[in-house]
Order: sequence, then structure tokens, then C-alpha cells
Amino acid sequence: MSSILILGAKSDIAKAIAIEYATHGHDLYLAARNVEALADFATDLQIKTQKKVVLKEFDILDLDKQQNFYASLEEKPEGVISAVGYLGDQLKAQKSQGECGLILATNYTAVVNLLNIIANDFERRGSGFITGISSVAGDRGRKSNYLYGSAKAALTAYLSGLRNRLFDSGVQVLTVKPGFVRTKMTEGMDLPGKLTAQPEEVAKDVYAAQQKGKDILYTKWVWRYVMAIITSIPEWMFKKMSI
Ligand SMILES: NC(=O)c1ccc[n+]([C@@H]2O[C@H](COP(=O)([O-])OP(=O)(O)OC[C@H]3O[C@@H](n4cnc5c(N)ncnc54)[C@H](OP(=O)(O)O)[C@@H]3O)[C@@H](O)[C@H]2O)c1
Repeated sequence: MSSILILGAKSDIAKAIAIEYATHGHDLYLAARNVEALADFATDLQIKTQKKVVLKEFDILDLDKQQNFYASLEEKPEGVISAVGYLGDQLKAQKSQGECGLILATNYTAVVNLLNIIANDFERRGSGFITGISSVAGDRGRKSNYLYGSAKAALTAYLSGLRNRLFDSGVQVLTVKPGFVRTKMTEGMDLPGKLTAQPEEVAKDVYAAQQKGKDILYTKWVWRYVMAIITSIPEWMFKKMSI
């Protein structure tokens, strides 16, 4: 069976997704910065699943290297999943151009740059899937994380347009909008248990949604309804709230 490329593969969600796809018979390319940190994980996964796991060093912010990075994949993947993201420090980013730029580039512009390269190849080939991990934070700007949220909103809009463009070529585009997930990104945060998913749960949802050819996935599923309520609050009221 053909291979899957996972970008930002050191993320807890990405690792759970890697396990899910390898278990279902796919070879993997795991791309991350300092990718050697994934060596033990990759070896274990290869032994458990008998699938090929290839590690690729990559930094999404190295825009000039993205074309070569994709060209270096010997066999082009059937699908790509981007888990790259950076929550950043909202308060710092309100004052620091560097932190603000890092949030916007890591969550949006750099991801788009690479997905454009891959989308063009998949379109030419007439097959494949692109799964982008966005966030419910992109559904409405909140004062606590609106720089991250605005980059995710842009990513969501990008994936929507890409899906529209690639529909006729048979390339599937899935937008994933997780709510809270217990990972390195949310370490130390006081998260509400009932609304918080484990990475393994998200991975199963992502795999199932991609296999079913879905367009948009909220995970946990309840977030679809949470966000329907949050986005329906009138702006005059929302600006007085601290959510
Ligand atoms: N956890 C949540 O509650 C939650 C909710 C909604 C959406 N999400 C999204 O889910 C995705 C996975 O997040 P996570 O929760 O698993 O957190 P995470 O572990 O922080 O994952 C983010 C990944 O992005 C990688 N990354 C950041 N900058 C990069 C760069 N310049 N080049 C290459 N990789 C880079 C990180 O690499 P390093 O390991 O090298 O730092 C990390 O592996 C992200 O897109 C996140 O925005 C998470």
C-alpha cells in the first residue's frame, strides 16, 4: 500500500496518527525538525506494523528548501497530513514582531507554501489526499489567543478553497478542527475533562474521516456544537465575555 507523509511528526497528535495509518497498512514518511528524536518511535512502529517508516529532517520555515524537500521523497506519498503548529505567547506577540511573525508563519504561510507544492503534484497526478490540522480557535477570535486563532482561520479558509479547486481532480482535502487535546502544546493548562481529547482519539477520528472522504472534522465531535454556540453569540455581547 502507498505511503503517507506526516509533517510536524514529533507532535503527539501526529505520532498517534502515524500509528493509526501504519496499523492500517501504510508506509510512512515522518518529517520533523530534529527528526532523530523520532528514531526509537520509528523503529518500534516498524517492528510492530512491519511497515516502512522513513524519517525526513525538515523545518517548515525554510521556505527555500521546501521544493527540494518534496522532490527528495523517493516515492511520492498517497496523502499528506500536516500537524505543524505553534501556539506561541499571545501577550508577547502583541508587542513582538518576531513572536507574532512566528505564530503566523508556522501556522499559516509556511504550511501553505509547502501544501501548494504538494497540491500541484497531486492535481497533476489526479489522486491523493491533503489533511490539514487547523483548530476551533480559527472559528472565532478570542482575546487570549487571537493571533494563533487568526492564522488557523486563514488555514481553514485556505483548505476550503483548496478543496474546492481540487475536487474535479479527485484530490480530497480534509480540514481537522480539534478542540482541546492533551499534548505538549497544552501541557500545564487546566482543561475541561469532558471537552478534552487524547491524541489517540483525535487520530482515530482523523483516519475515519479521511477514509470516509469527509470535508471537515470537529474532534471531539461535541466541538461542532460548542462552536455553533460560540459563533452565534452577537459581537456586542462576545466582546464583554472572557471565553
Ligand atoms: N493540543 C491542542 O489542544 C490542539 C487544539 C487544536 C489544534 N491543535 C493543532 O494540532 C496540531 C498538533 O499539535 P499538538 O497539540 O500535537 O502540539 P505540538 O506537539 O506542539 O505539535 C506541533 C508540532 O509542530 C511542529 N513545528 C513547530 N514549528 C515547526 C517548524 N518550524 N518546522 C517543523 N515543525 C514545526 C512542532 O515541532 P517540535 O516538536 O520540533 O517543536 C510540533 O511537533 C497543531 O497544528 C496544533 O495547532 C492542537
